[in-house]
Amino acid sequence: MTGAATSQVRGGAPVHAPHNPAVVPIYQTAAYAFESWEAARDIFALRKAGNLYSRTGNPTQTLLEQRIAELDGGVAALGTASGQSAVAIALLALAAPGGHIVAGSGLYGGTVDLLTDTLPDLGITATLVDQDDPQAWRAAIEPGTRALLVESIGNPTSAVPDLDAIARIAKEAGVPLVVDNTVATPALLRPIEHGADIVVYSATKALGGHGTSLGGLIVDLGTFDFGAQPERWPQLTEPYARVGDVVLWERFGRERSAFLVLAKTRWSHDLGPALSPYNAQQILLGIETLDLRVQRQSTTAREIAAHLHAHPLVAEVHHPSVPGNPYADAADRLLPHGTGGVFSFEPADGADAVPGIVDALTHFTLAANIGDARSLVIHPSTTTHSHLTDAQLELAGFTRATIRLSIGLETPADLIADLDRALALAHESALSTIDA
Ligand SMILES: Cc1ncc(COP(=O)(O)O)c(C=O)c1O
Repeated sequence: MTGAATSQVRGGAPVHAPHNPAVVPIYQTAAYAFESWEAARDIFALRKAGNLYSRTGNPTQTLLEQRIAELDGGVAALGTASGQSAVAIALLALAAPGGHIVAGSGLYGGTVDLLTDTLPDLGITATLVDQDDPQAWRAAIEPGTRALLVESIGNPTSAVPDLDAIARIAKEAGVPLVVDNTVATPALLRPIEHGADIVVYSATKALGGHGTSLGGLIVDLGTFDFGAQPERWPQLTEPYARVGDVVLWERFGRERSAFLVLAKTRWSHDLGPALSPYNAQQILLGIETLDLRVQRQSTTAREIAAHLHAHPLVAEVHHPSVPGNPYADAADRLLPHGTGGVFSFEPADGADAVPGIVDALTHFTLAANIGDARSLVIHPSTTTHSHLTDAQLELAGFTRATIRLSIGLETPADLIADLDRALALAHESALSTIDA
């Protein structure tokens, strides 16, 4: 077994291509020529491995899938067009038809929309619980529950749930724990070490790391036994009509991820959110420097959080390293190498100060993204989380004054000076409005 830094650069099977390129080529093709009628038939029937059409696979994407599976210690992975489609496909493959999901309160707003609007329209229900309360997780589990879902580091508040405790509850209930590891990435946290079964990513963020390309990944850690209670998982344990009536669990089991075979041949195939080969290569390039970037961003974020915590124009900083933060212990235990570059703060002048601060910043691009090489700023309650009700915002632990930062790779002193200047300008303008 190689070290993680080696896997970041070399993980997965070497791609043998004409002219021996040292870096995986972008296989920019929609379809693949079959060697023969028989080969085409066997590949379609899943009797033979092979590429058939880029909606269900592509060699550039395959290398990315192998690399993230290796980094996470999983058995297989599936690339999708976006993080949103990775979360949706993972949940549909587990919970359709008619299942139920229990999810933590600190989720990305798009995932909350998926759970509270779109999946219910498809007959899948969800209960959002206070993710720091084990009893709430336990109480929300129903006979039809098919997954527990949580983010290993929540945004915008840097919430760090007790993954081991939630994993124990999932095991007691006989359902898989799905962890969205987007902010932490395998460089900071490997969910398999804390009892997770399936990992999902928005690869658009820190995995890609340069803000160029959308992508999503689902990793099957191979830890969940879908055969233990076969009546719960008919999609895996009963004959699969569209592929010659094979029972996916018997044919592929956990070692070859029956779960991802279903996710790929049914949900990704039918709904169509394919990862572009170009984006797959961009994300592979990003992963080569993942640990270096994420550790540097974590260090800078911590420094800036400490500075803001001591700042008279800042009321509160949501970062596990700040004194009194409720996630300090969990972060020490689960994230000894850092908590990533994303955190948030509340200006002392409240929500009215937000537009002035956001517009005065020059080293923070105002953009609805995180994990970029550039530092970014956003006001979640009017953008990324604008669909959340006041009650959902409160459950997620932030307010209408919360400003989210995603720390990039710039010189820390420049970012600090920019924040100081923006806070002062917004304060002066608030004072002059009061005077006038
Ligand atoms: C934690 C998390 N999961 C999923 C997503 C959705 O990913 P994407 O924007 O790539 O569709 C995001 C996007 O911000 C996210 O932050």
